[in-house]
Amino acid sequence: MKIKHLLLLGCTLAATLLGSLTSCDDGNIREENDFYIDEGYVVRVSGTLKNMDQWGSKYQIVVAAFSAQDSYPLLAKSLPVTEKKQDFKFEGINPNCESIELCVLNPINKRVATLATIYSKTADPNHKLADTIYFKADNLDAGMFANIQKNIFSKRCAYCHGMGETPAAGLYLTEGNSYSNLVGVTSKKIDSLKRVDPNNAKGSMLYKVLTEYSNDCGWHYNHTNFFYGNAMSNLIKEWINNGAPE
Ligand code: HEC
Repeated sequence: MKIKHLLLLGCTLAATLLGSLTSCDDGNIREENDFYIDEGYVVRVSGTLKNMDQWGSKYQIVVAAFSAQDSYPLLAKSLPVTEKKQDFKFEGINPNCESIELCVLNPINKRVATLATIYSKTADPNHKLADTIYFKADNLDAGMFANIQKNIFSKRCAYCHGMGETPAAGLYLTEGNSYSNLVGVTSKKIDSLKRVDPNNAKGSMLYKVLTEYSNDCGWHYNHTNFFYGNAMSNLIKEWINNGAPE
């Protein structure tokens, strides 16, 4: 009898122990055992990113380390495309890097968008390699459109398109307004075209103004001087051809 009781007690203890070991994913990542490889930084990304799937299969969302002023990373590792919670560890990152970013790479591994700066040597020169760098993505909008808005429309276009009194061509490219001003809306300049016709970049006014111009086209402003053939117009082309998701 006594032995039986002891055995039972032992089993219960073992089960409790096992239970507590396997249920350690409580979101409190600092308590887990991060081990450290002495050749580089360790980054841990957790939380949720939304609209990752907008980028399609040509682009990758990665954690990447960069040296100064370079758009090609020293090394990069992609994050799984999911709306679910991420919990991702990246080790052995080159200690000579200047920054570590959550960013988007195009098919030739060039950075086309920075979603967040996880670490910057200039901002944190005293960071010890041994200390894991934590980044919590709190429902960060990683989508293509959010990026185009932030890095292109708000920075390069909105001062003529919506920040003044009358927006050029009646087109608002300010945050919160641009999507409804573009997608499926008839162009003011050429009324047989939509400003954005999803899945048809070549037939969309937005892509045309950025890539085509001739002296007799009758337009007042030559957008291609600034935007022709660069990563910016490519991004817009891909977004439209991916169905122009919001
Ligand atoms: C310096 C001012 C200026 C800037 C900056 C500017 N635009 Fe324009 N944009 C104009 C003007 C002016 C027109 C109207 C052209 C005309 O009437 O001939 C126009 C027209 C357009 C049209 C055509 C709209 C329609 O309904 O036919 C689109 C699309 C457009 N711009 C997009 C952009 C984008 C995208 C950017 C930023 C990458 C941008 N513009 C930056 C001045 C500007």
